[in-house]
Amino acid sequence: MTGFSTDWLALRESADHRSRNSNVADALQAHFGLRDTLRIVDLGSGTGSNLRGTADLLPTHQQWTLVDYDAALLSSARTALADWADSAQSVGENMQLKKGHLNLEVTFKVADLANDLDAALGETPDLVTASAFFDLVSPAAIGKIAQAVTKRRAAFCTVLTYNGIQQWVPRHPSDSALVSAYHHHQRSDKGFGPAAGPTAPAILADRFTASGYRVLEGDSPWNLKAPSDAALINELSRGYVRAVGEAGKVDAAAIEKWGARSITGSVVGHTDTLAFPGHNVFMDDPEDDDDDEVI
Ligand SMILES: C[S@@+](CC[C@H](N)C(=O)[O-])C[C@H]1O[C@@H](n2cnc3c(N)ncnc32)[C@H](O)[C@@H]1O
Repeated sequence: MTGFSTDWLALRESADHRSRNSNVADALQAHFGLRDTLRIVDLGSGTGSNLRGTADLLPTHQQWTLVDYDAALLSSARTALADWADSAQSVGENMQLKKGHLNLEVTFKVADLANDLDAALGETPDLVTASAFFDLVSPAAIGKIAQAVTKRRAAFCTVLTYNGIQQWVPRHPSDSALVSAYHHHQRSDKGFGPAAGPTAPAILADRFTASGYRVLEGDSPWNLKAPSDAALINELSRGYVRAVGEAGKVDAAAIEKWGARSITGSVVGHTDTLAFPGHNVFMDDPEDDDDDEVI
């Protein structure tokens, strides 16, 4: 298991929500604007941050399935969702939430997406989503997930996929050596085979385009500044130093020096990716032999 903690996911949630790309969010909202009800599957849901960040963009009645292989995170999701909603009720294993004008039914599914993808997706999702997930996934598994989504003709929206941009304030002479080592670590196996890491956004766009989907991408970087983001910057730099150490490409003394100063800011590049089933832009009108109509 990749071992993400409830505390880490809670610490990053507000930065994640404010960093989302507004063009991608607007296009997602517009796509389902005429619907009343939507079935959504969230891959690698953790404690449900993506539901909390996306629900406002979607129709009034939403049926969410949160999928994660970490049962403890799904259990924390129940608490976090009950705290977030205006009212929450347990209905068997599911939850019924009200938030403003929204009615949400939430199902929790413990499943390893490396092995149980079809069962996790179910047969008829309208939308498959994820947040901060796809850089953990291998290129081959991204292809399989894209295939499973496009086979179901579902829309797809994933936010906050790491795209390789990594800057720290103040700069340090070892920055580039550490970033290279970090990217080696990013490409290590996180349960799906060697991970796509920072190449994940490009692979997602490629696989969905190849399946005839229309793809829209937008940047969603974290722009973190102390003092307001100090706790997240500290935790982020600690994890960064740990990952660089595990990569074994930079000597320990250099890593220690890099981590010893006070870090006051960080930019972490992410990409949001939206993909819709393609359709013909020209439609034959049986009443009209001459012209195609642009829709
Ligand atoms: C960085 S966390 C993101 C969590 C959540 N989407 C968010 O934005 O807060 C990645 C999540 O993917 C889950 N995950 C990783 N590999 C998985 C797998 N093979 N099957 C199911 N879930 C997985 C982890 O347990 C974790 O909850």
